[in-house]
Amino acid sequence: MAQVSLKNVSKVFSNGVKVVNNIDLGVENKEFMVLVGPSGCGKSTTLRMIAGLEEISEGEIYIGNKLVNDIPAKDRDIAMVFQNYAIYPHFSVFENMAFGLKLRGYPKKEIMRRVHEAADILGIRHLLDRKPRELSGGERQRVAVGRTIVRKPLVFLFDEPLSNLDAKLRVQMRTEIHKLHIRLQSTIIYVTHDQVEAMTMGDRIAVMKDGVLQQLADPMTVYDHPKNKFVAGFIGSPPMNFMQGRIIKRDGRLYFDEGKTMVKIVDEMHTKLSPYIGQEVIFGIRSEDIYDKLFVSDTPPENIVRVNCEVVEPMGSEVYLYLNTGRHTFIARAGAHDRPGVNQNMDVVFDMSKVHFFDKKTEEIIV
Ligand SMILES: Nc1ncnc2c1ncn2[C@@H]1O[C@H](COP(=O)(O)OP(=O)(O)OP(=O)(O)O)[C@@H](O)[C@H]1O
Ligand SMILES: [Mg+2]
Repeated sequence: MAQVSLKNVSKVFSNGVKVVNNIDLGVENKEFMVLVGPSGCGKSTTLRMIAGLEEISEGEIYIGNKLVNDIPAKDRDIAMVFQNYAIYPHFSVFENMAFGLKLRGYPKKEIMRRVHEAADILGIRHLLDRKPRELSGGERQRVAVGRTIVRKPLVFLFDEPLSNLDAKLRVQMRTEIHKLHIRLQSTIIYVTHDQVEAMTMGDRIAVMKDGVLQQLADPMTVYDHPKNKFVAGFIGSPPMNFMQGRIIKRDGRLYFDEGKTMVKIVDEMHTKLSPYIGQEVIFGIRSEDIYDKLFVSDTPPENIVRVNCEVVEPMGSEVYLYLNTGRHTFIARAGAHDRPGVNQNMDVVFDMSKVHFFDKKTEEIIV
């Protein structure tokens, strides 16, 4: 069994800065866990503490049921693929993959068997005699992964392994790593700053900011029920639209008043929003929950918002509309053939059952 758990783990570097702050994280056996967050939020540091490459300032890390705080990296039975994986340029692919096993004194026959097995899994058997300079970026990346597979570790740690690849190859390797996980049935902790990678690969994702774990859940829960404004804005592309405004009550109904426009709040949200009547809040709506009124029938007039269309961005399968209420700008995703006039007024419809409200001060979700 290879579950990994971090209990109140912190990291303070010698300059006194706490870059990882009291992280509690349980990774289950065979789980694909993604740590995601912006640059500098402490992802690599967290991973390096799990690997044993960085000392833990506070807290405990368990691999399996074993406390590993004082166990050196080489005895932790984990393998790590780094942000800038360095494969030895003067070694062949075979030698690169065999190197770690040789160091550990494995017999030649066993090394042969394991390297061939790993090469088959990764589809690089025909490349075993080549030198790294004779490989494409994606193939090199596979060699770096191959080096870790041959060791059959309990846990794989990946630190942005795809960051050196071009966009198309990234997508391809993303699927490959996904398949690899299914095939190896191993526990994987995968670090990325790319929220698309996080959403598509993770069984669960842990969103970090400034060394603090913000939310830990499966991808759709994080997407549909973000815990705070940061998570809501970080996960999803284009990011969630935010508008500042006030909750007001009129004739027993609640409305969100953003200054230029007003929309009616659904009854289900009343209880949670009642304490905020008369106060400023942050309203959040995803671009796919905004519709061009031309294509919607039966819209309650309270959900219609008059906007100016500033930019129309065709994406092929859909169109991004950059809209302005006169106070806030936001993005709507429309159908591929929707072409509203630029710099002209149009009406859009908000799906008010899908919106979110955040506390202005704490930025925590209200509903
Ligand atoms: N040895 C060190 N001494 C002091 N500060 C450090 C050290 N290593 C990293 N840091 C700081 O710790 C913070 C977290 O760094 P870390 O490498 O964990 O970030 P990250 O989330 O992996 O970012 P990226 O996405 O850019 O790789 C950063 O502010 C960084 O400057
Ligand atoms: Mg990093």
